[in-house]
Amino acid sequence: MTRLLPTAAGPVTGALSVPGDKSVSHRAALFGLLATGPCRATGWLDAADTRSSLAAVQRLGADASYEGKVLRVAPGTGPAALVGRRDPVAIDCGNSGTTARLLMGLLAGWLPPGGPDVVLSGDASLSGRPMNRVIEPLRGMDADITCLQEDGRLPVRVGGADLQAVEHELPVPSAQVKSALLLAGLHARGRTVIHGGGASRDHTERLLRVMGVRLEDLPRGGLAITGGQQPGHFDIVVPGDPSSAAFFLTAAAMIPGSRVTVTGHALNEGRLGALRMLRRAGADVTLARARGPREGEMLGDVTVAYGRPRPFTIIGDEIPTLVDEIPALAVLATALPGTSVISGAQELRVKESDRLALMAANLQRLGAKVTEKPDGLEITGPARLRGGTEDAPLVLETAGDHRIAMAMAIAALTAGGHCVLDDPGCVAVSYPDFFNALGALLRRG
Ligand code: S3P
Repeated sequence: MTRLLPTAAGPVTGALSVPGDKSVSHRAALFGLLATGPCRATGWLDAADTRSSLAAVQRLGADASYEGKVLRVAPGTGPAALVGRRDPVAIDCGNSGTTARLLMGLLAGWLPPGGPDVVLSGDASLSGRPMNRVIEPLRGMDADITCLQEDGRLPVRVGGADLQAVEHELPVPSAQVKSALLLAGLHARGRTVIHGGGASRDHTERLLRVMGVRLEDLPRGGLAITGGQQPGHFDIVVPGDPSSAAFFLTAAAMIPGSRVTVTGHALNEGRLGALRMLRRAGADVTLARARGPREGEMLGDVTVAYGRPRPFTIIGDEIPTLVDEIPALAVLATALPGTSVISGAQELRVKESDRLALMAANLQRLGAKVTEKPDGLEITGPARLRGGTEDAPLVLETAGDHRIAMAMAIAALTAGGHCVLDDPGCVAVSYPDFFNALGALLRRG
């Protein structure tokens, strides 16, 4: 069913909190399976993606539950819960790349050799995404992973194996790959070394450290982990997800007179690239009330006010710090006077959709001046975005990608005429309540 998107009659103002960080929430569910003590994550994200991780650990024998905004995982029997099972354990990772990739690393050394295998599958989008970036380095550690249909794609079968530590050089600065290798390293013989994960998000390292796992920091962002350690427990507060907050904060930077505060926003440095970019685009960005444990995940209140718009440039090194916010930043660029350049972002072609192609197509449909490059976008503004008529609204295409859907909802705020999304329900992947939150903010403005 399509959905008519709201427009903003004037400035957007107000304060809101956004759901818990998706990356941290995935890790809380998945690492709970490894814990030797009771685990708790307050403010856990309840969304389709993180439900995939929760269901996976439950299938693997964890006593895990979510109630009253709290995820709880009781210490379990570990892989012993699977002993005696003959059939493979089937795990549907849904749309979630984090579930699939982290589980491959976690299971490769955690499953008992000779025990049941696990078959990981996903939806059509996830089944088209590259998995060799995880499978190949894991096979280098002697992991037993087989692609069941097409090389480098889900579904895959993972069997238990005695893993050997090796030294890795990551081909892409991916947090999912780095995390899979750290989790494999936890169960490997010897010291696993990972180079090249540098600027990618560090939630795995932080949560493992909270659980008492020793990790070594090496020069230039390298990491090492020695196998055989037993993770303890965690009791954490999940901060608000910067990738969800970005849609509202971008709207504030786009619409004259706007001012939006997101309370409880994550302050993890590796996730603040979009805020730095909003500042570079002339918005007024302030942080207040920083709180939380320095070793874990800090949070604070972030306010973005409309300022003096100017174009921005994003270059390759910055991409990991704002990779999921690029759709929102591309929308912002249509409102800025001059040409904004996004480069080094080829990874966006293998996310939940080809985000460069879809953003270019949707923004062009709205009348924006956008050039699609192999590794990015060039966007010249300010553009007067235009939807369709009441009888023939402009249809914006999501390809089932939650972040494209939310980015286009922000674009539609300033578009004259009528715009609809072809699949608004896909926001449930990371932010089920998105349209209510946007509606409430617009009513306050
Ligand atoms: C994630 C890492 C990022 C991000 C994804 C979630 C994670 O991907 O795009 O949405 O939770 O580790 P990379 O693996 O490319 O860093």
